[in-house]
Amino acid sequence: MTPVLEVRAVTKRFPGVRALDAVDMAVLPGEVHALVGENGAGKSTLIKVLTGVYRADEGEVHYRGEPVSFARPLDAQRAGISTIYQEVNLIPLMSVARNLFLGREPRTRFGLLDIGRMNRDAGETLGRYGIDVDVTRPLRSTSLGTQQMVALARAVAIDAKVLVMDEPTSSLEPREVRTLFDVVRRLREQGLAVVYVSHRLDELYELCQRVTVLRDGRVVHTGPLEGLARLALVSHMLGRDISQVRREGLTGFTGDHALADGETPVLRVEGLTKRHQLHDVSFDVRAGEVTGLGGLLGSGRSETAKAIVGALPLDEGTVTVNGRRLRRLSPAAAIRAGIALLPEDRKAEGIIPDLSVRENIVLAAMPRLARAGIVTRAKQDAIVETFMTRLRIKAAGPEQRVAELSGGNQQKVLLARWLCLHPKVLLLDEPTRGIDVGAKAEVQKLVDELAAQGLAVVLISSDLEELVEGADRVVVLRSGAVAGELVGDEVTEDAILATLVAP
Ligand SMILES: Nc1ncnc2c1ncn2[C@@H]1O[C@H](COP(=O)(O)OP(=O)(O)OP(=O)(O)O)[C@@H](O)[C@H]1O
Ligand SMILES: [Mg+2]
Repeated sequence: MTPVLEVRAVTKRFPGVRALDAVDMAVLPGEVHALVGENGAGKSTLIKVLTGVYRADEGEVHYRGEPVSFARPLDAQRAGISTIYQEVNLIPLMSVARNLFLGREPRTRFGLLDIGRMNRDAGETLGRYGIDVDVTRPLRSTSLGTQQMVALARAVAIDAKVLVMDEPTSSLEPREVRTLFDVVRRLREQGLAVVYVSHRLDELYELCQRVTVLRDGRVVHTGPLEGLARLALVSHMLGRDISQVRREGLTGFTGDHALADGETPVLRVEGLTKRHQLHDVSFDVRAGEVTGLGGLLGSGRSETAKAIVGALPLDEGTVTVNGRRLRRLSPAAAIRAGIALLPEDRKAEGIIPDLSVRENIVLAAMPRLARAGIVTRAKQDAIVETFMTRLRIKAAGPEQRVAELSGGNQQKVLLARWLCLHPKVLLLDEPTRGIDVGAKAEVQKLVDELAAQGLAVVLISSDLEELVEGADRVVVLRSGAVAGELVGDEVTEDAILATLVAP
């Protein structure tokens, strides 16, 4: 079969790094082609070359048999290559229907926007994808899943031949993931080619037919997914022997800490209440324990974490650290009390793209370090170096701008920032989302080590396996309230699910 899209010996350099090195890839009509690799392997760069965001330094891209070089993403889209990024590139304040029809709105005889017809057609189209939503509402007010479905429906409506998806499921509910997969399968049956980037192995095996593995900008494997063992795939990604990967296991939790019952809690959260968001949320977190916060999207997990560090003003509620109640909840008070939060949305709440990796890491620790005396550059460098190695942050060096790092590596920089504060309480909101299998195990191992050293850790994760393996107890939230608490052996996937949906 002739490929619809073909990458031939494409090389792309950035100062200090060869992001793509003579990459070949062929995408066939009617296949979902997985593109995988560690953080910084070059996946997003390749996609950007395909879609006209970057121009290749060397090599060619062929589309439907012709060499192409798109000057900008819009040209690629017009030609039939649609991209769905993790963050949907639509217009949040316009209605759902308007977004769906952007640039090809139905008009009346007089050339005016035919709103009635637009809304009707939009409702019908989305209905076909199993999405039931008021299409007159602003897109922003709908769930991420709906937003992605709108982007997808749009791609189909403009008759795309190739659909490129870069980590599309990372903030979707399981139910939304199902709908998305159904739609992608249908499109594939209609002959569309899909390039699919994800760090979630389960998804790849469920959805994709073939895979291309990138490592350090080079293709190290390409072929059918069926018959390729998981361990083999991971060892391609990491560049390590299968036997070594098997020895190390796929999650990194060591279990080197245990329930610390009886001890006075380091963190006591009481009666957190915020109209429409949180209702009387209370729980304790002990030193040396990992306390999981479970729940669906919108259940109040992130709001709880934000409230604790004073980033979400409350109507009521108190936070106590080591027996001392914080008089006022504010980000500064939280840091003083030794509470650190790794936020969920690293783009909006944390990473400062124009600063260097070093500056981003030492940012929060500076005042503390300064109090301990003058912070020499050498000392900063030592700290930064430790964390860059430990978390395997891939960058040209500590002085590289964070904006130039791959998505997963930005996440690691943010984690390093909070770790070098040496907090007493560490709140981690989806710490392994978007990071690759190798680094994920690394972060999980670190979480265990920190708890074993006596830190009180709160772990928020949508990944049930991660909660079950990592947490000593799990507080399950539903609609902003505590629906139950599971302790020790009670923490199983089934029990969490049952608590999530219990009446
Ligand atoms: N604009 C840029 N300037 C400099 N270097 C860049 C730029 N964009 C990407 N890079 C570098 O190119 C390499 C590949 O990055 P890319 O974003 O393609 O990785 P990725 O495979 O998508 O990783 P992730 O899984 O973390 O999203 C990285 O070393 C990154 O730091
Ligand atoms: Mg990426």
